[in-house]
Amino acid sequence: MPTASVYDVKTPELADEGARRVEWAFAEMPVLRQLLTTFAADKPLAGIRLSACLHVTAETANLARVLVAAGAEVVVCASNPLSTQDDVAAAMALRYGIPTFAHRGDNHENYYKRIASALDHRPQITIDDGADLVSQLHTARRDLLDGILGGTEETTTGVIRLRAMAADGELKYPIIAVNDADTKHLFDNRYGTGQSTIDGLLRATNILLAGKVFVVCGYGWCGRGVAARAAGMGAKVIVTEVEPVRALEASMDGYRVMPLVDAVREADIVVTVTGDKHVVDEVHLKAMKDGCILANAGHFDVEINLPALKAMSREIGQPRYNVEEYRLTDGRRLCVVGEGRLVNLAAAEGHPPAVMDMSFADQALSAVHIRQHHNTLERTVYSVPKEIDREVARLKLQSLGVRIDTLSDAQQAYLTSWREGT
Ligand code: ADE
Repeated sequence: MPTASVYDVKTPELADEGARRVEWAFAEMPVLRQLLTTFAADKPLAGIRLSACLHVTAETANLARVLVAAGAEVVVCASNPLSTQDDVAAAMALRYGIPTFAHRGDNHENYYKRIASALDHRPQITIDDGADLVSQLHTARRDLLDGILGGTEETTTGVIRLRAMAADGELKYPIIAVNDADTKHLFDNRYGTGQSTIDGLLRATNILLAGKVFVVCGYGWCGRGVAARAAGMGAKVIVTEVEPVRALEASMDGYRVMPLVDAVREADIVVTVTGDKHVVDEVHLKAMKDGCILANAGHFDVEINLPALKAMSREIGQPRYNVEEYRLTDGRRLCVVGEGRLVNLAAAEGHPPAVMDMSFADQALSAVHIRQHHNTLERTVYSVPKEIDREVARLKLQSLGVRIDTLSDAQQAYLTSWREGT
C-alpha cells in the first residue's frame, strides 16, 4: 500500500514498529478480520468519503483498514491530545496509506488544526469519539453539513453531547450511538475501561493495589468495571454516586458507598469515571490524605478540578513519567496521573484489542447501515440496530468457539402467547 498523499504524524521513522503493533492487535480482533474479508468482496462503502476522529491506536488502525477494504476513502484524526500512539499514526500514514493527522501531546490549537484537516476531506460519513468532529462541523465548517449522510459516535460522553444537540434542534444529520449497543458498553466500557484504567495507573505509578483504599467516582458501566478490577487486585473499594439506583447496586455489589467528601479522607487512590466536571473539587482536595493519587478515566479532562489544585499548590514536580506531584501550600502532596486525561490511553494503550473488536465492528456495520438507509434517517440520535448488535455477538461467540442453544418452535410460540398460565 503506498504512502498516504497527505498526513501529519510526529515520528514517521517509527512506521515499521507501529505496523508490527497493529498486526499484533489484529490477531485479537477476529470479528474485524471477518468483516474485512466480506467487505473486501462486497465493497459496501465504495466511494464514500469518511472522516474518523478517534483515539489513534493499533485498534483504530485496524478499524480504518476494514473501512478502506469496504471501499471508503478514509481520513483519521485524533480525538484526544494525549491518546495518540505516534508509531501507529506513522504506520497508518506510511504503511497502510491512510491519511492520518495526529501527534501525541498536541496543544489545544494543533489538536483542532488536525480535526480541520480531517474535515478538509469533505466527509459523507463521520465517526467520532467524544463529538469534537461533529461539534466542529456544526460550528466552524457548517458549509460541509449538506454533504453529510450521517455519523456514528463511540462514547458515552459524545452521545450525551449529541442528544443535547438533538434536543436543542441543532443536530443537522443522523447519528448512530454505537455506545448504546450491548456489544459495546457491556464489554468495552466494563471490561475494557476496567482493565485498561488499572493498567494505566500501574504503568504510571507502579504502586501495589492490595490493601489500598481505592475510590471510584461513578458507577456506570465504566465505574462498575474499574471497581471490579480494583477489588480483584485486593484494593478496598469505595464507590461514590449521585444516582440512587446505581448507588444501591454498588452497595449490594459489596462496596462501601458514601459521599466523596467522606471517602477522600481515607483514599489512597481516587479515580473519576462520571462524564461530569469538577467531580473532585476544591472541597475534596482540601480533605485528601497526603500522597493520594488521582486519575481520571472519563472522556474529558474536566472531572478533577485541576485549576483549583494548581491554585492550592506551591510547586509541581514530576517524580515519574505521566505523574505530576502537586505540593500544596499546607505541605501535603497530591499526585495526578496523565494530566487528568483518560488514564487508560494517556498512561497505557487503551482498551485491549479483543474488546475494541466488538466496538469497532459495531462502528463499521453502523457506517454501512448509514450508507444503506440515510434516505430514511432523521436528524436525531439512533441506537445501533438490534440485528447489528446480535450479528457482532454471534461472530464473537463463533470466534471464541462458544456454541449456544436455540429455542424450539414450542418455546418460541410460548413466548408470543398469553394463554398458558398457572
Ligand atoms: N478507547 C478506549 N480504548 C481504545 C483503543 N484501544 N482504541 C481506540 N479507542 C479506544
